[in-house]
Amino acid sequence: MILVTGATGKVGREAIRQLLDLGHGVRALSRRPEEAELPGAVDVVAGSPADPASLAQAFTGVSAALVVLAGDVAAEAAGVAAAARRAGTDRIVLLSSASVRHPLPHGIADEHRAAEEAVRGSGAAWTFLRPGPFHANTSWWTRTVRERDAVRCWIGNNPGAPVDEYDIASAAVAALTQDGHEGRSYLLTGPETLTSQEQTRILGDVLGRDLDFSVAPAEEVVEVFTEITGDRAAAVTNVAALHSPEVPWAKPTTSVRDLTGREPRPYRRWAVENAALFAPDRPDRLDRVEGRAV
Ligand SMILES: NC(=O)c1ccc[n+]([C@@H]2O[C@H](COP(=O)([O-])OP(=O)(O)OC[C@H]3O[C@@H](n4cnc5c(N)ncnc54)[C@H](OP(=O)(O)O)[C@@H]3O)[C@@H](O)[C@H]2O)c1
Repeated sequence: MILVTGATGKVGREAIRQLLDLGHGVRALSRRPEEAELPGAVDVVAGSPADPASLAQAFTGVSAALVVLAGDVAAEAAGVAAAARRAGTDRIVLLSSASVRHPLPHGIADEHRAAEEAVRGSGAAWTFLRPGPFHANTSWWTRTVRERDAVRCWIGNNPGAPVDEYDIASAAVAALTQDGHEGRSYLLTGPETLTSQEQTRILGDVLGRDLDFSVAPAEEVVEVFTEITGDRAAAVTNVAALHSPEVPWAKPTTSVRDLTGREPRPYRRWAVENAALFAPDRPDRLDRVEGRAV
């Protein structure tokens, strides 16, 4: 049995689809099983990585787990490691972050480093997937694109090689189901280096609309992050890291190809497949399709 946490999210849901296609038994952890909309073949356990009792239940009889953490990443990873150790789980694939390789100290890197450390201590063979920014992060632009054909970018405009959630899921499935990835970390990127402005141009081209692009200054983003988290010090370091040109995902890597045997998907494909999100008459409920910061 393979367990997936964060199972209803962008990476987890796609990984489950691919695991079922390959004939694996899958268990999913979700806070709201009744709303999870996962395939009937999936054994859905109610709970979350923040709840040790649900982790104990979820890990019972599990040989391998894809661990996606979306709350207090460090604390949740400690709970996951303890549950995996008790259950004797053989293999853990952790969705970490390329930020762990960032030269600037900041909270996002710290929490993912702590998560990696916890999983290293779990007794399971581990693989760390360290993606750069997801293609789906551009769904943060849906409202302004819908309402006024505009993108206001919060992460600066430095070049980077964003990666598709489909490829992260495929990489996870390879690491879960094939030997040879134990004790290895993979920095996952897409196939091309793009600025946010270039992504905006591609999106506008796909939508057939002329999109205005602007970059929110770091101070403005700090205010927004502080309002959301209440932690100004963390907001300052996180924003400085996101706005830095020295990002570890600046250039494409071969990791997706190394893991999956095929090339990663370009941003244009994501834009084509998700164009409907940006339609001006789109209902508001699609605003739920929003990711976290890197
Ligand atoms: N976005 C990026 O650019 C980027 C880059 C590198 C790394 N990452 C990392 O990728 C991970 C997120 O992966 P993802 O985007 O596939 O996940 P996601 O789409 O945000 O979904 C996460 C799922 O986790 C569950 N969940 C449990 N506790 C939660 C909480 N406190 N808040 C929100 N969701 C919670 C939710 O499912 P239920 O409601 O069913 O429980 C949710 O569907 C994070 O660790 C993030 O740091 C992201």
